[in-house]
Amino acid sequence: MPRRLNDGEPGRFTATTLLVIGLISCLIVYAVFSAVLRPQDHTLDSAVRITDSQDQGRLATAGDGGGCCRGVENLELWGPAVKWGTDFKFYSSEECCKACKVMCSGNDGPCLCDSWVFCGNKEACGSKFGECWLKKQKDVLVPDSQEGGQKVLWTSGLIFGQGEGIVGFETEHGVLHVKLHPECAPHSVYYILSLLTLSHCAGCQFHRAEKRGSYWDSEGNHVNNAPYGPPYAMIQGILQPEGDMFSPIPTEHCPTISRGSVAWVGSGPEFFISLANHHEWKQSYTVFGSILPEDMDIAERIAGLSTRADVWNSVNVSVLEKPVSLAVRRMKAGREQGDTGS
Ligand SMILES: *[C@@H]1O[C@H](CO)[C@@H](O)[C@H](O)[C@H]1NC(C)=O
Repeated sequence: MPRRLNDGEPGRFTATTLLVIGLISCLIVYAVFSAVLRPQDHTLDSAVRITDSQDQGRLATAGDGGGCCRGVENLELWGPAVKWGTDFKFYSSEECCKACKVMCSGNDGPCLCDSWVFCGNKEACGSKFGECWLKKQKDVLVPDSQEGGQKVLWTSGLIFGQGEGIVGFETEHGVLHVKLHPECAPHSVYYILSLLTLSHCAGCQFHRAEKRGSYWDSEGNHVNNAPYGPPYAMIQGILQPEGDMFSPIPTEHCPTISRGSVAWVGSGPEFFISLANHHEWKQSYTVFGSILPEDMDIAERIAGLSTRADVWNSVNVSVLEKPVSLAVRRMKAGREQGDTGS
């Protein structure tokens, strides 16, 4: 099973100090900007932030995808509206999300709606309760947001159409293209998008590599009567720039892990890419993306690098002798993010 590395103690003090300094700076900047730049009211073009708990219990039970429609609470996404919420209302964020998704189901070109903003807290929203704003971002990988912390009423989500929402995990062995799943794991995807805005991801790397061995076939299916590892048919790493604060990611959609699934170990920033269909792991991990099938040979190559034995929480693991650095990159610019060029 994927395991958490033991946290290192050094650096914690520095991190805390930096956090405090960071928070204070943010507050000052926020105070100045909200005074100077704040729009008069949340009208038209600004839409989203949301708090809404109705998503719970309506999670898709289907595998990757289809059924999820979730967003991030207390987040307001901006951007031009393609449908104004003043007279477009629903009872749940899920319905609002679906309304956006419907506009994005064509096979031709980019989505007409790629983001939605919903006001779901009856008391706090007042007359805005139920408003569902459908939006189109200038750049869906860098959504235009106004984060307002707890008091933000709105809940927002992203929808990526075919060929959109693909980022690259770039390594010396090739680029792993990852299709992100914002409707199922919106908090996770929002975090990954935040990594795109950084100039580097120092410290981001793969450090554990375990082959399929003879236990799973090349399609990831378990071989009858074979053990379930070790080796565990996965590569594991960390997605956190050195020195940056990391807020644990809440548990999101946890389908059965299949070959190509990209998932957090616990609440991150440790993550793994599965080389096999791990039914035996049950539904224990938040899956936020999938590796494009044609890139699985790169994952296999990393899994085949030389390793040494180690024991993490009493699990025998294989740790890469030389960790593989990784950078999170947007793929070629252009309207479609999804081209497979590498
Ligand atoms: C872990 O490795 C040790 C030493 O190689 C071995 O004795 C033990 O059986 C292994 N445990 C499992 C669960 O494979």
